Amino acid sequence: MKHGRQMALLDRMLELRRRREYRLGDTVFRLPLDVYTSREVFEREIETLFSGSPLVAGHVDGVREPGSYMLGDWTRQPYFVVRGEDGVLRAFHNTCRHRGSPLIVKEKDEPLRALVCPFHGWTYGLDGALQAIPRAFAFPCIDKRDYGLKECSVAESTGLVWVHPARQESFDPAQYLGAFAEDLAEFNLERFVSYRKVVTEKKANWKLLVQINLEGYHVAHLHKGTFAPNFRDGFLSFDAEGPHLRILAAQTNLPDAENVPKKQRKLVDFVSLFYLLFPNTIVIVRENTILIGRFMPLAPDRTLCSQEMLYIPDKYVGESGQKKLRNLLLYTEVTLDDEDYKMAERVQANLLNGVNETHLLGLEEGLVKLFQEQVGKRLAARDATTADSP
Ligand code: FES
Ligand SMILES: [Fe+2]
Repeated sequence: MKHGRQMALLDRMLELRRRREYRLGDTVFRLPLDVYTSREVFEREIETLFSGSPLVAGHVDGVREPGSYMLGDWTRQPYFVVRGEDGVLRAFHNTCRHRGSPLIVKEKDEPLRALVCPFHGWTYGLDGALQAIPRAFAFPCIDKRDYGLKECSVAESTGLVWVHPARQESFDPAQYLGAFAEDLAEFNLERFVSYRKVVTEKKANWKLLVQINLEGYHVAHLHKGTFAPNFRDGFLSFDAEGPHLRILAAQTNLPDAENVPKKQRKLVDFVSLFYLLFPNTIVIVRENTILIGRFMPLAPDRTLCSQEMLYIPDKYVGESGQKKLRNLLLYTEVTLDDEDYKMAERVQANLLNGVNETHLLGLEEGLVKLFQEQVGKRLAARDATTADSP
């Protein structure tokens, strides 16, 4: 991010702190609980948000070399992304054209030379073309050209790999991200390399898992044994770009920024910076590490959560550097898991017990409301289109 923009954001945080102005919304909002429990709402979200938007598949580090690949991880709509021998990045539905087995079950480090289905051995090139059918005489009427892998559209932008699982024509993630594309490009996310990716299933609605990242009201309490001392005066400010959010969380040391000459000030020294890339991706950007969290819905109360951690290698050299990196990344991963996402699961478990009719969102939880409004707006727009069509 350009220094001028960093300073403007930092000045805004300092000013908000001076004024003790921590509100992110104007009114207390009552959120109906069926947004987290209804099967009908869930299916409309899948159709509208997840099939209708570009989604982050992961960081480009996973697919730099020919033959390297990444799984989309989303078992509801399984796909994978692979770099061909020709250097072209392609995304395919992870479904064999014979009888539907997944072609790739687990990510491994070795590059692929071809895609061999584990069920009966049909073999595809990295361009998706069906190359070989074992005992092909058993399929006398089949033209191999009709049975290539089904492709979905994919794009690389700002160090991230994006897919549009329901489309085949090209799309532009930068256009989708608006002004935030420039922000992310300036961070040069391509420089980072993967430390590890962990995918786990959570027993919570995908929105509860996203939304716990959108409010700082819980930090002092839920994280009192972990993150809270870093955010003692914790409050957020944000910018919206369409449905996407850039969120700044004040660190305890924020007032110290005033003692550092402006030219030497860095935003991320005093503020935690993260992005919601709508609908389901959170990118936490630090000076030398990034964390990409993706939430992939399976059912109203079940979600796959992928956490991918990356770092700049020459900032963590030697044994002590690697130890520092491991501690930093695992601390973040484990705290998010043990505290935030565990809490989302506990809240989900209580949704149907009839005690609350709604959830109350206070003024510091305004971004939860904003996110929910963006979701609702898209569902309503789609419903209107469906109603209009003959
Ligand atoms: S299902 Fe893939 S070869 Fe049979
Ligand atoms: Fe949290």
